[in-house]
Amino acid sequence: MVNVLVTGGAGFIGSNFVRYALATHPDWRITTLDKLTYAGRLENLQGVMEHPRHEFVKGDVADPSVAGPLVRESELVVHFAAETHVDRSIANAGEFITTDVYGTFVLLEAARQTPKLRRFVQISTDEVYGSVPSGASRETDELKPRNPYSASKAGADRLAYSYWATYTVPVIITRASNNYGPNQFPEKIIPLFITNAVDDIPVPLYGDGLNERDWLYVLDHCRGLDVAIERGIDGEVYNIGGGNQVRNVDLTRRILQLVGRPESLIKPVADRPGHDRRYSLDTSKLQSLGWRPQVAFDEGLADTVTWYRNNESWWRPIKDQDPAFRKYYQDQYGSTRS
Ligand code: NAD
Ligand code: DAU
Repeated sequence: MVNVLVTGGAGFIGSNFVRYALATHPDWRITTLDKLTYAGRLENLQGVMEHPRHEFVKGDVADPSVAGPLVRESELVVHFAAETHVDRSIANAGEFITTDVYGTFVLLEAARQTPKLRRFVQISTDEVYGSVPSGASRETDELKPRNPYSASKAGADRLAYSYWATYTVPVIITRASNNYGPNQFPEKIIPLFITNAVDDIPVPLYGDGLNERDWLYVLDHCRGLDVAIERGIDGEVYNIGGGNQVRNVDLTRRILQLVGRPESLIKPVADRPGHDRRYSLDTSKLQSLGWRPQVAFDEGLADTVTWYRNNESWWRPIKDQDPAFRKYYQDQYGSTRS
């Protein structure tokens, strides 16, 4: 059995990864370590909480007394845990430094003391390259993060690399583009706009709506991580992108069409400060190891809309009843309903 530690496994990508990994690797015994912040939800692990090869531990990656022993028992660490929402980092960056940078340091220190560790996967992001006016970012490109979230992720990304270069901790770093799919917290554009559209309330589009993201279906991300874990080389960085460049306004129109709502629901609002115009990834390095994204964007988006329609019991308690989310929405958008 391979002992695997997944941090942040109750979040969006982490929970999809835990489910995928239990199904794909019968020889993996997975421990999920998650603090259960506002974004971490045990419902995301429904069906695998009782799995004989899965254990859940509630705890903070930045607490060495909890995270240290778990790392030291592992052959593989897949480190997803982070504060992840750019808008929240702009409002309040403190937690991003504590979790994304210091938390990664705590895990790496423990990894340094774990001779049996075969791989430490630092889940980074395409945001570390900053805004890319044209072309596609390669792994060797300069990092130019421009908001507190991406700066904290860039810090963690390079810290992880330094533990490979200095102490030969077997680190690989993956930089994925914007993920979408089931169980994404309804603060990010796709789930926010789908659920607003279902409720027939405006969708707040930042600025001129011409910012561009490269959309990656979450399961394609999981498969890409698997390839990087199995075939990647220590000390290397791997981009994981979907190859689906879409302007926000076009994404919004597609969502409204899929939900069956008029474009008049689009509400232009003030732009995000420091809003990165465009991200785009060159994924030829991971593709050379045998990975390809499999889910076409139209198909993945339609499936995602269907998932949110069929799982109102997952998101309504957050959007309609959670006072913390309602306060966040009010602070961010000025009104809870428009
Ligand atoms: P998410 O916000 O849905 O989940 C984050 C999880 O981390 C939650 O379960 C939360 O409870 C947990 N967590 C937060 N702080 C913690 C702490 N101190 N200790 C333990 N657990 C803690 O995030 P996500 O979208 O699933 O992103 C997962 C990872 O992937 C992050 O590292 C993020 O930077 C990276 N990433 C995300 C995307 C994307 O589009 N969502 C793209 C590229 C990279
Ligand atoms: O690129 C990878 C990153 O993608 C990850 O590292 C982050 O963790 C993840 O949150 C995501 O960051 P973005 O800022 O790109 O995602 P978000 O869904 O917040 O925004 C996507 C685009 O939509 C962005 O251009 C801002 C815009 N937007 C977003 C929201 C929430 C709006 O126009 N209106 C909104 O209400």
